[in-house]
Amino acid sequence: MNARRGFGSGDSAIQAIKDRLNIADLARRYVNLQRVGHRWMAPCPFHQETKPSFSVDEERGSFYCFGCQASGDLISFYQRINGLDFKDALEQLAQEAGVSLRDRPAGPEARAAGDLRRNALKMHEAAKNFYARNLASSAGAACRDYLARRALDEKIIQGFELGWSLDEWGALAALFERSGFNKEQGVQAGLLTKSDHGRVYDRFRHRLMFPIKDLNGRTIAFGGRIIDNADEAKYINSADSPLYKKGGNLYGLFQARRAITLKKSVLLTEGYMDVLTLHQFGYQNSCGALGTALTPEQVKRLAGFCSDFELLFDGDGPGRKAAMRAAEMLMARGLRCKVTLLPEGEDIDSLLKAQGTEAFERLRRQAPDGLGFCMRVLKADYAPKDIVAWTRQFLASLEQPEYFSFYASELAQGLGMEESLIRRDFSHTLIISAQSSRRDNFAANAGLGTAGAGPAGVAGTGGTGKALRGPAVETQVLDFLARYPQYAARLREAGAEFVFATPRGLEFWAKIMDCGPDFAEPDILASLDDKQRAFWTRSRDFERMPASSEKERLQLEQICSGIERLIAKQNNHSRTQVLSQLNDDDYEVEVLKSLHEKLTGKPLVESKNE
Ligand code: CTP
Ligand code: MN
Repeated sequence: MNARRGFGSGDSAIQAIKDRLNIADLARRYVNLQRVGHRWMAPCPFHQETKPSFSVDEERGSFYCFGCQASGDLISFYQRINGLDFKDALEQLAQEAGVSLRDRPAGPEARAAGDLRRNALKMHEAAKNFYARNLASSAGAACRDYLARRALDEKIIQGFELGWSLDEWGALAALFERSGFNKEQGVQAGLLTKSDHGRVYDRFRHRLMFPIKDLNGRTIAFGGRIIDNADEAKYINSADSPLYKKGGNLYGLFQARRAITLKKSVLLTEGYMDVLTLHQFGYQNSCGALGTALTPEQVKRLAGFCSDFELLFDGDGPGRKAAMRAAEMLMARGLRCKVTLLPEGEDIDSLLKAQGTEAFERLRRQAPDGLGFCMRVLKADYAPKDIVAWTRQFLASLEQPEYFSFYASELAQGLGMEESLIRRDFSHTLIISAQSSRRDNFAANAGLGTAGAGPAGVAGTGGTGKALRGPAVETQVLDFLARYPQYAARLREAGAEFVFATPRGLEFWAKIMDCGPDFAEPDILASLDDKQRAFWTRSRDFERMPASSEKERLQLEQICSGIERLIAKQNNHSRTQVLSQLNDDDYEVEVLKSLHEKLTGKPLVESKNE
């Protein structure tokens, strides 16, 4: 079966993009390709190396790295190198290729969501320009004085398009009104606030404004800082909106992306001002986590650019904790990291401005790597039992079992633990997780999923919010599709087809999609086999339907974002995914055995059922 079947209108669009854009031309923007036979080769942009193990096959339109096994087509290359999700990558490439993604009119719902985003973008653009004009005007004098006191260069102020929100309640609201946007739209965009009494006013007032941008340089949110010692929050940030989710973006990434790609490393810090000062002092590969703990989403974005992270965090208690969590997350994904803690009471901004790059460089040189840093904190702050627990959960969090060998002996040595014990623990974790992935796999193969009592069933009453895995998403998608076939097109747009790792799941999906948009239940039932029909009928048990269409849409969004997360991970050959794609039970056991042997150096005699 053609794996692309069922993608509908997007299918021909993807082909058209591939016909018009050349994968070698695209890759050449990021790496230095050399002709070798009928291929092009270069050092891989997706992992740290100097040997040319990255290869591009123009004829097939694919790339492959012999070192890190990254592989895929034009779209996944673009996705990875820019840290984008599938939909964004597709949209940008379509634009570049001049291909329309919508050869049939979008449904009213999609149109409304599109309008909402487009309007919000326009309002953010207008607000950014408005704030910048204010800063340059006489009304911005106090803010300009403040920036001068903080010794911020004009070049940085311009480059980051800083601004000033007036000391008025309705200045931006009035601007919107003049530009044809109503108050409600301003509230939806997150730029105006509605009080409990229904009064609408400017969210940001009397603040230095930092525009937050997406990778295309479009303003999608703001941070605003007070400039005097008013009795107010030091910073206010945009609330979540159709354009912006807290934790999903990084401050300054748009301005830093080129330098990050070039230097193949990123300096990651916490504050707006710290990012600006770093850029001012020549560290253009710097960006900020925007006042949240580093999120997986942010890591994913950055990992598309480089594998080498330098964390610059506060030296106080919370700073140490945050740095440790961030380092763990990076190491679990096989990324390199170093950690610099600033001396107490100092931040990058104050250090660079008071003592210059010399002092900063001295600090950087002393920075331990991520694991060294974590072990230092563990030994200083943790009891032995907590150290053991930490080690277990850290090893269990590794995305690929191969990473284990990079950490095992260093952990054993650094923490004074028996290496053989660490190895035994780890192979145990591995087998448990492989077993549970096998269970999901079998459930999906049987066409039964876990719908009755498992995640899909729970989702029916409002969603689980848990991280989704391949087979679990398959079941959820099918379960949701059975109950609400009217959302078939939306699921397809989200890329649902690509989460089907099991042939059974894919077949089920294709059968439903083949029945077309005018879903007719008898047709579907006729095409399903017994087990599939049982699943279908159970899913359509209307008792389990959410009471409101609001809930139903919420669930749809949850599933779609789960799909997107999975697709973003599609190039990570994580062990669960590899295993979940295996169907031959004996072969699976073989794989487990060889994994175990590789890790422990001993053959796997018997795996006890736990
Ligand atoms: N932050 C926030 N909301 C707050 C306080 C802080 O979102 N009420 C976030 C901001 O992104 C801020 C970062 O946390 O940049 C670090 O906070 P802090 O160290 O207090 O501020 P600085 O960035 O150092 O700002 P400044 O140097 O101007 O004091
Ligand atoms: Mn500061």
